[in-house]
Formats: sequence, structure tokens, C-alpha cells
Amino acid sequence: MPAGLARMLRLNTPVIAPSLLAARYGRFDRELDRAVRAGADWLHVDIMDGHFVPNLSFGPELVRQLRPRTRKTFDVHLMCSRPEILLEPFAAAGADLLTVHAELGAQVSSLLWKIRSLGKRVGLAINPPTNMREAQPYLAQIDLLLVMTVNPGFGGQGFIEEVLPKIQTAQRWRREMGLNYRIEVDGGINLGTVVECARAGADTIVSGSTLFGASRMKSALQKMRAAVLAALPRAEA
Ligand code: DX5
Ligand code: ZN
Repeated sequence: MPAGLARMLRLNTPVIAPSLLAARYGRFDRELDRAVRAGADWLHVDIMDGHFVPNLSFGPELVRQLRPRTRKTFDVHLMCSRPEILLEPFAAAGADLLTVHAELGAQVSSLLWKIRSLGKRVGLAINPPTNMREAQPYLAQIDLLLVMTVNPGFGGQGFIEEVLPKIQTAQRWRREMGLNYRIEVDGGINLGTVVECARAGADTIVSGSTLFGASRMKSALQKMRAAVLAALPRAEA
């Protein structure tokens, strides 16, 4: 298949990633199975260190224990001030994609190279107040650009509308530079806000409380996927 066509098909295929932060604690195994049965493409795993964000979540052991249950992508979001001490443990535990934050400044490039050297997919996240220019120097190094749609640290927060132009910028830069990174949104994503994000160019959707909070997760996820498919601007070959 011509590379351009493969790129177009890949970027026009939405990815829905339920966030385990919203799962019922104490039964992550069954909650993961529920998400997989519901049609999840990836599983989003939020790692909080109580320093970069004012909250604590999980360690590599959670990924290691859940890894044998599915071949789906483990999309590990490191909201940590010192991710350099966690990259190898999460890689060894079975993470497929490791995302660090652009707000970490000068060390970002070496962190991205380290993730790549571990044979994992590389993600870069940017918080709502942070200017997109902070991510621009790294775009050729990444497989995923995560445009946060809430200030990180908690699930169940309200969506920040002011972030939408940043998603459009991410999509414009990708097109102009002929790059291949996916554009992910995370925080406050429901069946309404997902349409605005997809229209702006987001093709990878993280959702915690909307999906794990749904009594019928499968139909909620199917509705979310259909909404993205209908709204996503077509990526060119
Ligand atoms: C927030 C996390 C999100 C969060 C999303 O810091 O990065 O992944 O779990 O949860 P909802 O969809 O409930 O906002
Ligand atoms: Zn997240």
C-alpha cells in the first residue's frame, strides 16, 4: 500500500481509549475486560506522582498485572515531574506508548529519545495554559500529541473550550509538515465535546467518567466512535 494511503487511512481511523482512572478500584481486571468487550481500541493509564499534579494514582505493577488480559495498546500518560525514573519500569511492565509532558522543559528531548530507545511509541502532552510552541520542536520525534482538555490531576472535570484552537493548530502543523503523529484529547470528553474535538482534528479520544460511568459502555463507546467518524476532517494522502 502506498505510504500516503496508509497514513491517510490510519489518521482517519478514530481511536477510543477509556481511562482506567474512572474504573471501579479493586476490580481493574474486570473493568478492563468490560472496556475491551465494549470495543475499546486502547486503554489509557493515568500515572500521577502527587508532585506534577496534586493527586496520586497507579504504578507499573498495575500495568504488569493487567498486561496478560489484552493485546490492546496500553497508552500510559505520565503526569510526573521525574518520568525518567519510570520509563523503564513501565516499558518492562508492558506499556506500549509512553507520554511525557512538554512542561518538563529542557529534558523533554532526551525523554522522548529514551522512550524510543525502549522500543515504545512516543507521546508528548501539553496542558491547557501551555503555548503550542512548546511542543513544536519535538513534533518530528513523536507518534502522539496529547492536547489536554482539562488541567491534569483528576477525572470528572469540565471540558475547557479554549483549548479547541490548539487542536486545530496540531492538525495544521501535521498537514504542513507531512508528519504522522496522532492527535489525542483527554479530559471532560463526552458525546457533546467529542464532536467539537473531532471537528478540530482530534482522532484519538480519551474518556474516563463518560465511558466507565455508562451503564451500557458498548453503546456509549459506539456512539462516541460514530460521532468522531462523522466529524473528523479527512486527512489527505
Ligand atoms: C486527567 C487524566 C484523564 C482523566 C479523564 O488528568 O489525564 O485521563 O482520567 O477523565 P474524564 O474523562 O472523566 O475527564
Ligand atoms: Zn490522561
